[in-house]
Amino acid sequence: MEDSLEAIVEEAESGSRGLGMASRAEFEAWKAGFVGPRGSFTLARKRIADLPREEKPEYGRRLNEVKQRLDRIFEQVLERIEMAELTASLGDPPDPTLPPPGWDRGSSHLLTQVREAICTILARVGFVVAEGPEVETEFFCFDALNTPSEHPARDLQDTYYLHSDARFANVSKRDDERYLLRTHTSTVQIRTMLEQQPPLRIISPGRCFRRDTADATHGANFHQIEALYVDRDVTVKDLKAILDYLFRNLLGPDAETRFRPHFFPYTEPSFEVDFRSRHLNKVGKEWMEIMGCGMVDPVVFESVGYDPAVWSGYAFGLGIERIAMTLYGVDDIRYFYQNDLRFLRQFA
Ligand code: DAH
Repeated sequence: MEDSLEAIVEEAESGSRGLGMASRAEFEAWKAGFVGPRGSFTLARKRIADLPREEKPEYGRRLNEVKQRLDRIFEQVLERIEMAELTASLGDPPDPTLPPPGWDRGSSHLLTQVREAICTILARVGFVVAEGPEVETEFFCFDALNTPSEHPARDLQDTYYLHSDARFANVSKRDDERYLLRTHTSTVQIRTMLEQQPPLRIISPGRCFRRDTADATHGANFHQIEALYVDRDVTVKDLKAILDYLFRNLLGPDAETRFRPHFFPYTEPSFEVDFRSRHLNKVGKEWMEIMGCGMVDPVVFESVGYDPAVWSGYAFGLGIERIAMTLYGVDDIRYFYQNDLRFLRQFA
């Protein structure tokens, strides 16, 4: 009895040596010779029924041990087959520029995930993505957005100005203007309206820059999504409706928004938007300020050659970091940029 069990293991061992280059099908057929319905090990196991009662425990123990040894042999053979398959797929000679097998798969950064979520929700109601450069001119960032040169936003405190230089030749500017790093994505409103005729419906996600001392809620660079809708007879009601739609989809069905009067140079009237949602427990149960919006100021339409008597529209701009922090309970904006995998993996 003992001998026959040991013989099974020996047979598996010697057989496995010859199986290095076998296919998976060959491996399975060979394995079935041991543990398949009529395999030698399966038959040996059935023999326990015929043994005298006192011999059963010892035989059972031996069976378990033999099964474990067999499994180990099967595993080794399978590993060898997998290696052979991998080597074959790498070609001969193997391509050394291929990534190593088992390399960790990457995932999107949390800010990318939130940006995609917002863009997807707005794409469903017809908004298309428009892009603009991060290096901008005073015209697109300020003048055309009804922000005259004496406005505080143009103060050197807030804006990174660049020395005029031919390196930015892909962004053309007037001689009396300076280059700067855009302080908001509202610049894309102007770029789009100068290129397209209304009606239009765009969103513009992107990176912005402001001279700020970094702390838990401020950084010198951050991300926004700008939205612009231009059509006939657009009203504040349309604006409120789109924001309710956005926040309910983003934060859950019980999300609410509230408008507070505010001032932005490029919208009239302008509002700050607060939101709350009962099912967010960390932050967000109380009203929380989240973004700016308003009805496009007729002066802006004039600066791009749209007739304000015909066209109306709304615009809004929101900070992606702010939304991500609220949604995921992140309490320091600097985590987003430190590339610490312990932070990033929580959202992978
Ligand atoms: N540009 C504003 C900011 O950076 C956000 C904003 C407010 C955008 C009102 C808009 C708007 O389009 O209408 O804070």
